[in-house]
Amino acid sequence: MVISPLSEDDTRKLGATLAIATPVILIKELFENALDSGATTVVVLISPNTVDRIEVRDNGHGIDPSDFDALGRSGYTSKLKSLHELATVGARSLGFRGVALASINTLAEVTITTRTSSQPVAEVLRLVDGGGIVKEGRAGNPVGTAVCANNLFANFPVRQRSVIKEAHKNLAKIKELLQAYTFARSGTKVAFRVFGKPESTWCYTAQTGGGVKEAARQLFGHDVASRCSLKTYSADIKEPREQEKTGAGKSLSFEGFLPHAGADPQKIAGAFFSVDSRPLSPIRGTGKKLLSVFRAHYNQFPPGTKEEKATKGILIRLNIVCPPGSYDVNVEPAKDDVIFVDEEWVIGHFKQYLLSVYPRKEDDYENEGGRGYTTAGLETPPASSSGPKDTCKPIQDGLWICLDLLTAPARTKTATVATSIQQSSPIIPRVGTRFPRASMRSHHWKG
Ligand SMILES: Nc1ncnc2c1ncn2[C@@H]1O[C@H](COP(=O)(O)OP(=O)(O)O)[C@@H](O)[C@H]1O
Ligand SMILES: [Mg+2]
Repeated sequence: MVISPLSEDDTRKLGATLAIATPVILIKELFENALDSGATTVVVLISPNTVDRIEVRDNGHGIDPSDFDALGRSGYTSKLKSLHELATVGARSLGFRGVALASINTLAEVTITTRTSSQPVAEVLRLVDGGGIVKEGRAGNPVGTAVCANNLFANFPVRQRSVIKEAHKNLAKIKELLQAYTFARSGTKVAFRVFGKPESTWCYTAQTGGGVKEAARQLFGHDVASRCSLKTYSADIKEPREQEKTGAGKSLSFEGFLPHAGADPQKIAGAFFSVDSRPLSPIRGTGKKLLSVFRAHYNQFPPGTKEEKATKGILIRLNIVCPPGSYDVNVEPAKDDVIFVDEEWVIGHFKQYLLSVYPRKEDDYENEGGRGYTTAGLETPPASSSGPKDTCKPIQDGLWICLDLLTAPARTKTATVATSIQQSSPIIPRVGTRFPRASMRSHHWKG
């Protein structure tokens, strides 16, 4: 069998269809570029069949004429100088591979109109196949950039036909995508328009001081938004082990807009997780894990009032602000997942955060100096327990409280007992923390 090289052109085309597989991904990439350019307003326009014309306009810093020739070339980026910066680039910009614009240029005819604050007028540039530009003239546009891709997948007719067939579905996905970004970055105004279909127009108008709450109200309605509250948490970093992860003066914090306790967790209408304002996919990797930790915690909370339980949909929005260098962002082609250097550490603090947002009566034990808890009126522990008979009592169906924790005078003892129950948790549970009965059975008092 002869192994021979494909032409550069063919290799580029094959790679481009992987990077930009659908119009949804194309818009995601252009939208990310707009946000990375510091835009406060982004307008997305698309033709109904999703291939004839796709345009993203922003009011960001524009592209300097000295960079024009680099446009549309694969591996050309202003966001990453070398792989050494990969550990910290995720916090600075959404893009970093220098692949998207080149791929779009391979799959469509691209025109860019751009102006920086030092230019009197905008330049209209047509990207050349393979990279570089031809100047097409000047325009009176304001500072910012408009990237227009025409005739997407013209060289891939089968792909183009199938994309056109899925236009309706993809338009809905684009809207969802823009909403997820809006929720992660509520300070940016966003408009979405389908040419010739005014009924499909969607706009988000960021209001001064409105923030996440206002975004939730505009995106999901007043009812859903009013059932959530803003809750923040900063990891109190004292241990040397934690300091290593955070660098000087930087810490880990959680900015959440979380549902009030008592709603039915099965009715999660939207879960929006982000790391340093980078939206994460909630169906895989870190986003999926965060959602399952949330569910597990929220599930344990006693059901609320009839009205709370009847809530149509609950909303979770969480942004994690991370110390520099604490995660790898180069995980998924879509850049919507991260791998933490120490995931247990982050998840451990996430659990602490959830405990602070949804405190249980027993969690107040420590704050109250241990008052109010006695061993009176206890029931026996689970039948399979091999531990002392007076060390746990049922709190509610399936949940038991460890009384050793309640009566433990020192944190050391708490840690020993708790670790034997929740071996996977890097966090020492607070005195009075409850554990699922199942986990007490499997680890009961081994420590
Ligand atoms: N809307 C925009 N505003 C300003 N610069 C842009 C815009 N779109 C693209 N660019 C420039 O083009 C470069 C290449 O874009 P892209 O291929 O998406 O790569 P990346 O975003 O990974 O750097 C970017 O690094 C940026 O300098
Ligand atoms: Mg990009």
